[in-house]
Amino acid sequence: MSLKEKLIKEKLPRHVAIIMDGNGRWARRMGANRIFGHQNGVTPVHEVVEASGELGIDYLTLYAFSTENWGRPMDEIEALMGLLVSTIKKETRKLVENNVKLRTIGDLSKLPDTPRRELIRLTEETAGNTGLTVILALSYSSRTELIQAAKNIVTDACNGKIKPEDMSCTLFEQYLETAGIPDPELLIRTSGEFRISNFLLYQLAYTELYFTQKFWPDFRKEDFYAALLDYQNRERRFGKISEQL
Ligand code: FPP
Repeated sequence: MSLKEKLIKEKLPRHVAIIMDGNGRWARRMGANRIFGHQNGVTPVHEVVEASGELGIDYLTLYAFSTENWGRPMDEIEALMGLLVSTIKKETRKLVENNVKLRTIGDLSKLPDTPRRELIRLTEETAGNTGLTVILALSYSSRTELIQAAKNIVTDACNGKIKPEDMSCTLFEQYLETAGIPDPELLIRTSGEFRISNFLLYQLAYTELYFTQKFWPDFRKEDFYAALLDYQNRERRFGKISEQL
């Protein structure tokens, strides 16, 4: 029985988030430069998008560029932005045909004009799609998202739109960039690092975490299925005890 066949459809997560890590180390191991690693990070993106669509997963969030990544050497940033544009251009038709919807989180205003325009174009072009939603986290920082939410809440409170007693998880979540998107049930991080790295700090409160030693450029559908199987074998108690579930 293949890993895919072992998956129980009813027990699949609705939302999987991935920290795609290890491109640089993968490249160094090959004796190549870091950009080569990023170039080879595009195939696994295809693989997880395709696999998620095939399995009927509703949301896939990919951490593609953090606000901290702006501190990298300029040639690496330019290469990453270039890869983003070429991938979007190459994949537009397939995404539209496969009913995939694109969303972004993060501060797109920091991106150079071309990737920003391409992202907006593809977001608009796929807005009516009803299949898998792919959420690209770009120039994203969870702390910035939370601080922005706090600013907007204070503004709305000062303007009399909300009162302190109105505040609840449901209302707070409407101020996050992920408003309307269910929390991820599963987070995958590649490359053997055990960190959250300023990613979805609020949304990951009860998420199952899965870490693999594989570097992102080596990650394939089989690795994705292995993560999903591991998730299916966990008991999610949400603070309760087994007998109460
Ligand atoms: C982390 O590896 C990876 C990134 C910062 C970039 C992710 C980008 C891609 C997978 C390529 C294209 C993406 C799309 C959406 C088209 P790292 O550079 O931090 O690796 P290291 O920790 O080994 O240095």
